[in-house]
Amino acid sequence: MSQIIAPLVVGNWKMNGLQASLGEVWKLADRIAAGGPPPAEVVLCPPATLIHSMRNIAGDAGIRLGAQDCAPQAAGPYTGDISAPMLADAGASLVIVGHSERRAGHAEDDELVRRKATAALAAGLTPVVCVGETWAQRQAGEAASVTAVQLAASMPDLMPGQDLAVAYEPVWSIGSGVTPTMEDISAMHKSLRSQLLGRLGPRGEQIRLLYGGSLKPSNASDILSLPDVNGGLVGGASLLADDLAAIIWAA
Ligand code: PGA
Repeated sequence: MSQIIAPLVVGNWKMNGLQASLGEVWKLADRIAAGGPPPAEVVLCPPATLIHSMRNIAGDAGIRLGAQDCAPQAAGPYTGDISAPMLADAGASLVIVGHSERRAGHAEDDELVRRKATAALAAGLTPVVCVGETWAQRQAGEAASVTAVQLAASMPDLMPGQDLAVAYEPVWSIGSGVTPTMEDISAMHKSLRSQLLGRLGPRGEQIRLLYGGSLKPSNASDILSLPDVNGGLVGGASLLADDLAAIIWAA
């Protein structure tokens, strides 16, 4: 892991979690209290319905809260959508945009993802812009080119002082239990880093590049210690406090 920036571990609960699930957040808070200051910044992204309820427990434990998506608009006649200022108002300080489940299941393209990320920044949230290739694209040798195009078109312009993270999430690894080889993860992060440096100059070194896709306690220390991997975006394993704590302490 790059030493110049603090690692970031983001838990993505996806569409899981009811009020009864707050027990897992208490448990994670207990693990953090028992383990001392964690080696990574920790952000939990529950469904939007739980952000406000988690606020106090998470805040006391030093856990930041985030959301899994936001609207590109700030307010208005957009039934069912939730805007970035609303998420900030509920207690979020980060938002995932362009997750492959949104890109594939809700037909979100790079331009929409960029608008969402821009809206997040305007509301003072840190967007986590997700990119990643499908299995067919990897098989065709297109993993690096596909993610480069996604990143170029999905990334918002950054003003001084604004924060952004990028998550490399191979679509075929999400929820499958299968991960790329360490060499492949390294190669992808290296090429995303050089793209960030090309676009942002030295500031590109400060953008956290997260790995996501079947990250779990058994592979976290190998993956999170690779150069240019500055943390992880954790799906399934973030639902259990013990698993997420093990990943945090592997960072
Ligand atoms: P997973 O999901 O850890 O369950 O593979 C990762 C993600 O979708 O962010």
